[in-house]
Amino acid sequence: MLRTHTCGELNMTHEGLEVTLSGWLQRSRDMGGLTFIDLRDRYGITQLVFNLEVNTALCMEARKLGREFVISVNGKVAERSNKNPKMATGDVEILVSSITVLNVSKTPPFTIEDNTDGGEELRMKYRYLDLRRNANKKNLELRHKMAIETRNYLSSLQFIEIETPYLIKSTPEGARDFVVPSRMNPGQFYALPQSPQTFKQLLMVAGYDRYFQIVHCFRDEDLRADRQPEFTQIDCEMAFVTQEDILVTFEGLAKHLFKSVLDMEMGDFPRMSYNQAMTLYGSDKPDIRFGMTFTEVTDLVKGKNFKVFDDAELVVGITASGCSEYSRKQLDELTDFVKRPQVGASGLVYIKYGLDGVAKSSVDKFYTAEELTAILAKFNAKPGDLILILAGKKEKTQTALGTLRLEMGKRMKMTVPGDFKPLWVVDFPLLEWDDETRRYYAKHHPFTSPVLEDIPLLDSDPGVVRANAYDLVINGVEIGGGSIRIHNKELQKKMFTILGFSDDEAADQFGFLMNAFEYGAPPHGGVAFGFDRWCTIFGGGESIRDFMAFPKNNSGRDVMIDSPSPIKAEQLKELQINLMK
Ligand code: AMO
Repeated sequence: MLRTHTCGELNMTHEGLEVTLSGWLQRSRDMGGLTFIDLRDRYGITQLVFNLEVNTALCMEARKLGREFVISVNGKVAERSNKNPKMATGDVEILVSSITVLNVSKTPPFTIEDNTDGGEELRMKYRYLDLRRNANKKNLELRHKMAIETRNYLSSLQFIEIETPYLIKSTPEGARDFVVPSRMNPGQFYALPQSPQTFKQLLMVAGYDRYFQIVHCFRDEDLRADRQPEFTQIDCEMAFVTQEDILVTFEGLAKHLFKSVLDMEMGDFPRMSYNQAMTLYGSDKPDIRFGMTFTEVTDLVKGKNFKVFDDAELVVGITASGCSEYSRKQLDELTDFVKRPQVGASGLVYIKYGLDGVAKSSVDKFYTAEELTAILAKFNAKPGDLILILAGKKEKTQTALGTLRLEMGKRMKMTVPGDFKPLWVVDFPLLEWDDETRRYYAKHHPFTSPVLEDIPLLDSDPGVVRANAYDLVINGVEIGGGSIRIHNKELQKKMFTILGFSDDEAADQFGFLMNAFEYGAPPHGGVAFGFDRWCTIFGGGESIRDFMAFPKNNSGRDVMIDSPSPIKAEQLKELQINLMK
């Protein structure tokens, strides 16, 4: 063995023991006759001491070692004169008797410290060095714990983990597919799964009534802090269940993870309908750690010759308590914020309810003092409050105000780290109308079952049909989503028709699923959680990248292995692919 102990475990109970430690040289310090080295491995740091007088040659050898050299040392555990209570091993040090250099290291391009001097791009290029840092190590450990606890919990409930293939046929989940050419079938392509959706449904037809898989999924979509082209889901499916059974089972998983990973007992998760979430929070993934819910004033403000309000489908606002003293500059900033293309509002109306009880607004010339007071009353405003109002088309305005609400939440520091507010959002609409392509899209995916009593509306008013679909949201992040599935061939066929598939296209893409439905498909449903997102929320992180060992950058590149990259002409020829220049 190249070590008897790790660098994280020695303490005063080991005093006097001869030990062998191996690891990386974090830093060294020469202090007159003594040289100190911090030796690091996955488990911690242990201080090594070399005494120039006691063993000159050894001390000189130690002084030649550079940062990140891999060394193994023998020595005796001794009590430190200068203890470090911040370190687990801070009571002891090793009086080294011999060193073996296991490998040398070039000077790393950035410091392997908690507060490193390395920028993002550089750290990604040398990700194996970045991963030596504590923050990343902690994140990957948390991820491991989440995976183990997920497996334990689901196994204990008779779920079995079954792997499904990665080389499949395209499944529409709303993003573009990554495709893989087939050498043996020239001109034909596999698609990498956006999720194992159809396979898990086929497993239900096959009788495996409780399936799960911690599985990679691939989506060629624009990247953000919470999106990677390759990510991991906790993918689950159950047969013979209602929506209620699924919510209860997976709320159980969530509570188990809160308890086992964060040591937090969670009460029952509230449920909110999609409509309620949009009406009160302007988001289908509301952050309910703080209130600041919406107040609608459409009827109250119309008919006073203020065109913006008169023409609006919805006039709605929020109350920012204690912000009535916002300066002109701050209000301008907020106006610019809502006018950004990403938010898309045409302007912002404010009413300051001064501490002196006087209301001042950006629309004073259209409303009398009494009218402003009536609006303030509708908002339940108190002196000191600032009312922020947006107007326009209903959904666009709700979404824009939802974004402004989150911004105000941030500015007003309405959330505290370590506070978790999960909820289920239910009763999603089945379909979503797209003005540009003038057709309906599945809000979740085409396999989602409509609410039974709404099925007759599929012909007359498809837009109002509710889905048996649900999302788990924590702190404003969509952690997971799922639905009860269609398990009847005719209904599935009808759904494809509504979504604009011809019979031939539906048969070509999903014939296998519809055929399976002819062989005794049980009622079934499921859910998939974004594993990286869940780890990020639990770890208090900002970006899912920090919880993945080898993530891609915002352009979808792995800068460490330099991928994607061209392939050789022979490979292209073998695949019968001609690149048009
Ligand atoms: P959905 O498409 O909602 O559902 O995905 C489930 C969850 O996966 C996470 N997620 C992502 N995480 C990181 N990067 C991405 N690009 C990314 N895309 C999605 C989200 C999301 O809530 N088959 C269905 C589930 C089902 O119906 O059972 C599905 O994949 O946290």
